[in-house]
Amino acid sequence: MSIERSHKYYREQINSLTRIPSLPLIATELMQVTNDDRLSVNQLLPIIEKDPPLAMKVLKIANSAYYGMHRKVESLRHALVIIGMKELGDLSIGFSVMNTLSDSDDPAGLHWDKLWEHSAGVGHIAQLLQESLGIQTGSSPYALGLLHDVGKIILYRLEPEKYVQIIEYALENLTSAEEAENHILGIDHMTIGSWVAEKWQLPESILNAIKYHHSPELVQEPANQVSTALVQIADIVANLQSISFGRNFQRSIPREETGWVILRNASQKLAEMDFERFVMSIEDEVIVIKELVKLLSGH
Ligand SMILES: [Fe+2]
Ligand SMILES: [Fe+2]
Repeated sequence: MSIERSHKYYREQINSLTRIPSLPLIATELMQVTNDDRLSVNQLLPIIEKDPPLAMKVLKIANSAYYGMHRKVESLRHALVIIGMKELGDLSIGFSVMNTLSDSDDPAGLHWDKLWEHSAGVGHIAQLLQESLGIQTGSSPYALGLLHDVGKIILYRLEPEKYVQIIEYALENLTSAEEAENHILGIDHMTIGSWVAEKWQLPESILNAIKYHHSPELVQEPANQVSTALVQIADIVANLQSISFGRNFQRSIPREETGWVILRNASQKLAEMDFERFVMSIEDEVIVIKELVKLLSGH
């Protein structure tokens, strides 16, 4: 199939509600509320309280090693202060999407836990990088990382057998996932992911991270360009530390990526930072990342 024809075909697949689930109402509500700059605890709390499994996760996360609190966090209100409201809103959107997409049917037996591990890892690294560089982005880098590769799960849901072939093709030909996807399906995870993000009306920052995490220079809006660049570099760091889904043979060098230039222009600190040391330090974070993924996926 030509690229145009396969794009048209998959566009129709995405538009038919039966193949791609709709986003849970709670995620839509959370997005509306967290888009508001005057976000208050009193707006956010009741929405999360309405969803006991979500509320439970939020508490668990506030109590996880990720936040390193010494005293037990028992109330949602307290958890909200620790995690931060905007972050919590974004995280909750991330969980909803995750839950919606990773239902129990796994027709070809791929281990998606690895993808979530990679995604949570990218989110965590993006956040650490943002802190080290002292840059402000309007959105939580964690949520962007968590969702950047969502298109892979969507392609798998649409074409389970072919997706297994894609992973094999990438392995045999030492190529990237997107090259293998384009070769076998005529579409890649960034494109299909961005269509679903549009359909679900996810925030612009998340849409950009999904669509352009391999080419952040294409993002128009400056703040979103920076947050997408954070995701690109964090993605490479995660793969360098083997927090990967499948095998990644594209040994990209962070300094040679467009995201590096974007971040360097956004913060002087990048030039001063010992980046190799930063990459090494991620090794110690792997356990924390894995613990968080277990909490998120509810195992
Ligand atoms: Fe990707
Ligand atoms: Fe990735």
